[in-house]
Amino acid sequence: MPNTYSRRQFLHSAGGLTLLALIPIGKGLFAADKKLMPMTLPIFTALPYIQPGPEGRLISGAEVTRLAWQTEGIPANFEVNFSQDYSFFRSAEIHCTSRDYTGPADKGSRLNYVSSFTSLELGTKYYYRVRCNNNIIIEGYFTTRQPRGLKIRFVAFGDNSFGDPSERAIAYQAYRVNPDFVMNTGDNVYDSGLDTEYSRYFFPVYNADVANSTIGAPLLRSIPFYTVLANHDVYGKHPAKNNIACANFEQNADSLAYYTNFYFPLNGLQDPKYPTLVYGPIKQIEDFKACCGSRFPTMANYSFDVGDAHFLCLDSNNYTDATDDSLQLWINADLIGSDARWKFVIYHHGAFNVGLEHRYEQQMRVLSPIFEAHGVNIVLSGHEHNYQRTVPLHFSPKDTSKAHNLHSENRIISGDFQLDLNFDGLNHTKANGIIYITTGAGGKYLYDTEFNNDPSKLLIHEDHNIEYTIKMVSDRHSLTVFDLDSNELIMRQIDEQGNEIDRIRLT
Ligand SMILES: [Fe+2]
Repeated sequence: MPNTYSRRQFLHSAGGLTLLALIPIGKGLFAADKKLMPMTLPIFTALPYIQPGPEGRLISGAEVTRLAWQTEGIPANFEVNFSQDYSFFRSAEIHCTSRDYTGPADKGSRLNYVSSFTSLELGTKYYYRVRCNNNIIIEGYFTTRQPRGLKIRFVAFGDNSFGDPSERAIAYQAYRVNPDFVMNTGDNVYDSGLDTEYSRYFFPVYNADVANSTIGAPLLRSIPFYTVLANHDVYGKHPAKNNIACANFEQNADSLAYYTNFYFPLNGLQDPKYPTLVYGPIKQIEDFKACCGSRFPTMANYSFDVGDAHFLCLDSNNYTDATDDSLQLWINADLIGSDARWKFVIYHHGAFNVGLEHRYEQQMRVLSPIFEAHGVNIVLSGHEHNYQRTVPLHFSPKDTSKAHNLHSENRIISGDFQLDLNFDGLNHTKANGIIYITTGAGGKYLYDTEFNNDPSKLLIHEDHNIEYTIKMVSDRHSLTVFDLDSNELIMRQIDEQGNEIDRIRLT
């Protein structure tokens, strides 16, 4: 081991991305390091971050991984190369779109770049190199999705990015367990899902240059970050429609950055019956749609596989109605089409959540029978800023009329519960039913701290006080860590100090 490290060696060991020529200049922005290399570079509003390819299924040799980044609206000449070694002999195609903002000083036009690494093998490490205006500015690496039969590890958390110390501590804990990817449960940036909020609170924390509990961690440069649409992604008001929730481009021209920052598989409904609502000047909406391409509104729902697991990600916002036939047909087809050993569903609004803030937003319960019919094991949600775990359960809806109450927070769905009280995740590890996990303690201030481990509080009168919630931790921030292969699944809940606060094993 050498006694001294070069900057490149240090940064490489810290997280997979070497910033050869960029330094932070505040507000989440990066500019050329003139001391290191005199060169002309645009200001980066998001450093390169790994994103998934368009294909949800696992096909070795046809795998695609993407590298995206964003700069201020000054054109530059980028080249991206990659390979399994340091030869970087393959070049990646780059696609650039623009978003034009007006308003405060840090809002201006912005260029969104995405490059595609194509024809990749599964479970394989690749190195990438980015040149800008003929200068090598960044090197990094990533590993493609694991094929069936190999172990995977991922972390889940939600309700996170507001620049708070707790968000940074959770990012650091996520980094410490070295996950294959992050599965966010929504509300990943506050308050309104704006591009400028991502620049301030999201990219600098999850793509920090150091791993530190007070700063964040270098996650995004090496692993994909998946998320779902949530209420804070669509937080504007529609003045022409009773102020219902919508992306209001008149208020914020950089609204709905979910669709322009992320590149998830485009295997969702191409024309959903209840799409994300938009409002504002026609030109700004047209510009936004041009930047999105086919991502809007298809990317509201999508699915993908990693290792022996299938992940189905759904938009549960209050403008959607989960009783919609076309949505249910698509969900059916998606789950029938998967031969994965473990099946996860991810949506933001927890359907079996006993927290005081959002306990009546139960609209997604109507989908539970479909999930049960197709062997879904775990549903992950957020919205409630704490950790909750149910026992394995079956749910048969009786009165679904309130599922149609769009834009309402009172969408109570009554029904019959069947609980598996035998499962303990330790000695009895075969679950009869779906385990619903709320993991919304990813950074924003906590809800219901007085509920912590008090079983008398974990009941809902309208659910006839049925004790389906077996564990709740609401006095600290936390994240969920999953380890799984074809034989077993281990779930751990880790707090912001790194302490294990819950654990179950499924076989
Ligand atoms: Fe939420």
